[in-house]
Amino acid sequence: MAGEGRQAVVSVEHVSKYFGVGAARVDALIDINLDVYPGQVVGLMGPSGSGKTTLLNCIACISQPSSGRLTLDGEVVYDDRWLKADLRRLRLDKIGFIFQYPNLLPFLDATDNVAVVLRLAGLGSAASLSRAVELLEYLEVGHRRHALPKQLSGGEAQRVAIARALANRPRIILADEPTAPLDSQRARIVMDLLRRIAIDQNAAIICVTHDEMILDRFDHIYRLRDGRLDIEAPAGPRLEPAAR
Ligand SMILES: Nc1ncnc2c1ncn2[C@@H]1O[C@H](COP(=O)(O)OP(=O)(O)O)[C@@H](O)[C@H]1O
Ligand SMILES: [Mg+2]
Repeated sequence: MAGEGRQAVVSVEHVSKYFGVGAARVDALIDINLDVYPGQVVGLMGPSGSGKTTLLNCIACISQPSSGRLTLDGEVVYDDRWLKADLRRLRLDKIGFIFQYPNLLPFLDATDNVAVVLRLAGLGSAASLSRAVELLEYLEVGHRRHALPKQLSGGEAQRVAIARALANRPRIILADEPTAPLDSQRARIVMDLLRRIAIDQNAAIICVTHDEMILDRFDHIYRLRDGRLDIEAPAGPRLEPAAR
């Protein structure tokens, strides 16, 4: 399996997370253990309310676990409390997040939607633009670089959003149902892109999905049920990349 034997990029140890107190307490995550290695793409499945988004948010340092330990790219960032003072910086440096819907800024064209993240990270304006165009080309939407979000198809917009998530070369990419709005052929193209990104950038990718059609695209499938995580048998041999 890709990457195993090397150091995990994401290591979740005994992480629990609850919301509320007393009778209103909801145990959203219970003793979660999960390691993801460089080059791996893992799937996270489970019914609505099982804790998928909560787990991604904890890994993204958006949501604070209640207990446990979280190591990102070799650095312990949470050990029963946050150990890093600047979580925003950590997120910018290490994590790319892809949402179910592209969430592009409607008044910026495709290039600027990507470049804005680079400027936030401190890159100059000319360098941001050229890196943004390079990323759009990598995702095969370079020809749409001047289009506004409303002029893009669903698949194109999702690829611009992926380009934005990749802008800072994150080691960790978290995707919350990125293929949900796409038809199965486009979903496969997006999954193949994620695979290429994992390999090219030595990144770990965790992808929430409900889509049974793309399960062959993952190295491992994890299932959440009522806040508990099980690993499933490997998804089987990967098929050839989808025809374009
Ligand atoms: N901010 C919150 N406050 C209280 N309960 C929450 C909050 N976020 C999620 N939950 C609860 O935690 C559980 C897991 O939710 P979530 O992670 O969103 O599930 P999924 O993404 O698998 O649908 C659910 O019972 C949900 O109601
Ligand atoms: Mg969710």
